[in-house]
Formats: sequence, C-alpha cells, structure tokens
Amino acid sequence: MTVRVPAKVNLQLSVGPAGVDGYHELATVFQAVGIFDEVTARPTAGSGVSLSLSGDADGVEADPDNLAWRAAVLLADHAGVTPDVDLHVRKAIPVAGGMAGGSADAAGALVACDALWRLQTPREELMALAAMLGSDVPFMLHGGTAIGTGRGERLTTVLTRGTFMWVFAIADQGLSTPAVYRECDRLRGGRRVPAPYVSDMLMQAVRAGDSVLLGKSLHNDLQAAALTLRPALRQVLELGEEYGAFGSIVSGSGPTCAFVARDDEHALDLAVALTASGVCRTVKRGIGPVAGAKIVG
Ligand code: C5P
Repeated sequence: MTVRVPAKVNLQLSVGPAGVDGYHELATVFQAVGIFDEVTARPTAGSGVSLSLSGDADGVEADPDNLAWRAAVLLADHAGVTPDVDLHVRKAIPVAGGMAGGSADAAGALVACDALWRLQTPREELMALAAMLGSDVPFMLHGGTAIGTGRGERLTTVLTRGTFMWVFAIADQGLSTPAVYRECDRLRGGRRVPAPYVSDMLMQAVRAGDSVLLGKSLHNDLQAAALTLRPALRQVLELGEEYGAFGSIVSGSGPTCAFVARDDEHALDLAVALTASGVCRTVKRGIGPVAGAKIVG
C-alpha cells in the first residue's frame, strides 16, 4: 500500500502566548504543496514494525521514535490489532525544514496501515490519532488550504481558486522547531502577546487566486526567531525579492524559505537564480494547493 503525502507551507503563522503545556496558541493558514514523501506499507507475518528510508533522508532515524513508526503503533493500539508492518519512506520533503516532513510521514503511515490492515477507521478518529502524533499531522491528512487553530491541529477548510507557483530554497542544515519557538519567546521578552489571528487580506488572496496579493499577505511570527538563529537566511529572502518573487517567507519554523512566483517560467528563473547563488543547498518547485495523504498504489 503506497501513500503519497505533500509538504506544507504556512501562508500565515500567527503565534499567540505559550500555554501551560508549553504549546503556543496559533492561528495559521496551511497550504499543501507539491513536494511529496511516499510511504509504503507491506505486510509481514508477525514480526512487528520495521522501517527503512530512502531519498533525501539524511538525519532521519529509522527507529521506534520515527513519527511513521509511532503512527503505525498508535493506529494498531487504537484498533486492537498487532502492529505487523514493514514501512518504507521515500523522502523528498526537506528534513527539519519547516515543511512538516516528519508529520507527512506520520499521516502517510496512518493511511497506509489503515488500508493494509483493512481497518476503515472513521475519518474523525484518524484525525484525532493524527493530532496525538503532532500539531501538523492532521493537516497532512487534510491537504488543500486550511486555517489551523489551537496548536494548529483544529482545521477549517478554506475554499480557494486556482493554484500558486512556489519555489523553496532548502538549507544545508535543519532547525529544531522547539528551539525556534523558544527563540520567539525570548525575543518577545515577556511582553504581552495579542491573540493570534488570520488576516482578511490573506483570505481574500487565496479565495481569489491572486498571487500578487498572496505575496503581500505572507506573514510568519516565527520568522524573526528563525533569522536570529540562522542570519544567513536574510540573504536568501532578499535574493528571492531581487528576482521578482511576489512574496518571500520562512516556511513554518524554517529554515526553508518559500517564494511565490508569477508562473511556471518565473518559478524556473527564480530556482536557477537561487541555485546559482549558492545561498542554499538545493531548490525545489511545487504548486499549491494539492491534496493531502492519498493512496496511489
Ligand atoms: O506538535 P509537535 O510535536 O509537532 O510540536 C513540536 C514542537 O513545536 C513542540 O514541542 C513545541 O515546542 C513547538 N510547538 C509550539 N506550539 C505549537 C506547536 C508546536 O510551541 N502550537
């Protein structure tokens, strides 16, 4: 059973105060974009969970802490079956890049194991299990464009028109999400933080499929923290602007930088310019929105 799962970018990430559990209250707009990991689940005869990785998987461990592995165990527990499965994850989503690569693999494993074990788990139950695995995992099942509130796991679908062309500049080394949130708190220095919100201008941009307006509406409260931890990202963002991106933003907790291009041709030009400049390890292009975790074979 093979499942294809997209990456995400946050068009807006409004971070409220930290709660007692350490999690921050969010108002975010997720968009699923066309860079995909593939999770394959194969039956085994009673030998538990095994996991192997291929593709761009540097720095990912194929062990019981891996989110895909944990997803298989959680689903089996929930359904009261033994977790016998051989998982393979083919990675293209940057690792620790702010594009929910690990969350995508968890969502992929949930869908793949659910189908392999013929569980037909109701959608709401699968979404609840996803939320237990991580704040971004429900969105990786959902796909498309959605507003996330709470920790990011409570989703409301956003109806959009057309597609946007994205270019992603992927850094040499990832950033730790908890470290970026901690840095955001440190920079705020105990000041009162307003409740998180989603801007009307952004909603208007995605509903109209207006790339220019989308570019102007991108906003990420974690960006300042990601830039403090990784000052070189400033140059990456500036380069995107220099080459005519409609908007530039650090994706989620970074360090991937995302750019809105005018069209296919402009996306290619932008990708070439970023690659040639040597400011990032690699560049990927993808359209958004795309569907969430989906069985492909
Ligand atoms: O939910 P998830 O395990 O993906 O979150 C990873 C880390 O990101 C958390 O441990 C926390 O430090 C931070 N986080 C947060 N507030 C959120 C979501 C994540 O502080 N709403």
